[in-house]
Amino acid sequence: MTNAPPLPDETSLRALAARLDRPLVLVGMMGVGKSTVGRKLAQVLGLAFADADDEIVEAAQMPIADIFDQFGEAHFRDGERRVIARLLEKRAQVIATGGGAFVQPDTRAMILDKGIAIWLDSDVDTLVERVGRNDKRPLLRGGNTREIVRRMHAERAPAYALAPIHVKSDRGPHGEAINRILEELDQWL
Ligand code: S3P
Repeated sequence: MTNAPPLPDETSLRALAARLDRPLVLVGMMGVGKSTVGRKLAQVLGLAFADADDEIVEAAQMPIADIFDQFGEAHFRDGERRVIARLLEKRAQVIATGGGAFVQPDTRAMILDKGIAIWLDSDVDTLVERVGRNDKRPLLRGGNTREIVRRMHAERAPAYALAPIHVKSDRGPHGEAINRILEELDQWL
């Protein structure tokens, strides 16, 4: 296990956070680590963190797999769009989105308009390893996980690429991805 690289000093982190006037929105494939990286990013920048999937579960009072099963994907996407619209109203905070959110044109347009989208990407092997074998993700059920992840990554990459900031997070500590996000943000702002 490699140790996480050191973060920038506290003064630089505060100065960077002070320049943010919009939410940072993590987008990218399921399993890439948007929630883990997002939570840590929020912590180092001294910002609030929101996980859009958790907010959807909270609003619907049922797990995501049940929303898909009982009402279908279109209904889930509708709820997802509304939840993300509400989260985007807050000023600077970090928002992790579900893997399909930024692929939906309306949701993507809203995120691009009101937030700073950061595409967190990994190679397919890393994604397959990280999604593991749980059945919480309805789109991974009933098929070969590697094949589904490979196809989805290929189909979705052009949409994710519309995010202004791209950061790779392959094997290795998430701290490396955080440092890269901080560097990219510093240049982009
Ligand atoms: C989805 C990803 C999931 C969740 C839902 C659909 C997708 O979120 O929103 O199962 O379409 O890729 P994670 O990316 O957090 O797994």
